[in-house]
Amino acid sequence: MSSKAEALEKLKQEMEADHLPLKGEANLVFGEGSMDADVMFIGEAPGFHEDKLVRPFVGQAGKLLDKLLIMVGWPRERVYITNIVKRRPPENRDPLPEELDAYTPYLTRQIKLINPKMIVTLGRFSMNYFLPLAKISRDKGRAVNIDGYVVVPVYHPAAALRSGAMMKELENDFRKLPRLLADFSVVSDKKPEKETKQPAQAALF
Ligand code: URA
Repeated sequence: MSSKAEALEKLKQEMEADHLPLKGEANLVFGEGSMDADVMFIGEAPGFHEDKLVRPFVGQAGKLLDKLLIMVGWPRERVYITNIVKRRPPENRDPLPEELDAYTPYLTRQIKLINPKMIVTLGRFSMNYFLPLAKISRDKGRAVNIDGYVVVPVYHPAAALRSGAMMKELENDFRKLPRLLADFSVVSDKKPEKETKQPAQAALF
């Protein structure tokens, strides 16, 4: 096993062992995909199907995510997919602030290990982790450089499944992703120096 794979496995085991909220109520859905992915997708929390299969984004929202990935030419295995809260909240309710607080330090470590170029946040909870002041209807599709990561918030696929207008916007925002990634790669084949547009985010990583 590579040292990165070992470090990810260790992080997962630590999460299993720690007394995190929702432990004992739902499975830990750690995340999956390429450990060397350029792009990491971060959703909200597992749902019913994700909890059953112990894999992120495998229900209806996941099927839509798969279609969007195919649309932009990125096979699912080439990206990395995870959630901010890694156990299913009961009845799929929104994650509570204490759940977000408990799980985010692990997400921070997971991001550092994967070390993607681009992070696409799916929905407002993962967006607000990077951009606490952002509003999804206003800021979706806008790339922000946060500590060397190009962070692009987009609507959550589940929200797009409920609204034709949001679906169009989500598709449009996905279409922009390959260009944003290519621009990043042309500018630098290593991460740019720290440059945080919103001072409130400076301490995140
Ligand atoms: N919604 C999410 O935010 N994450 C999943 O894994 C599935 C649905």
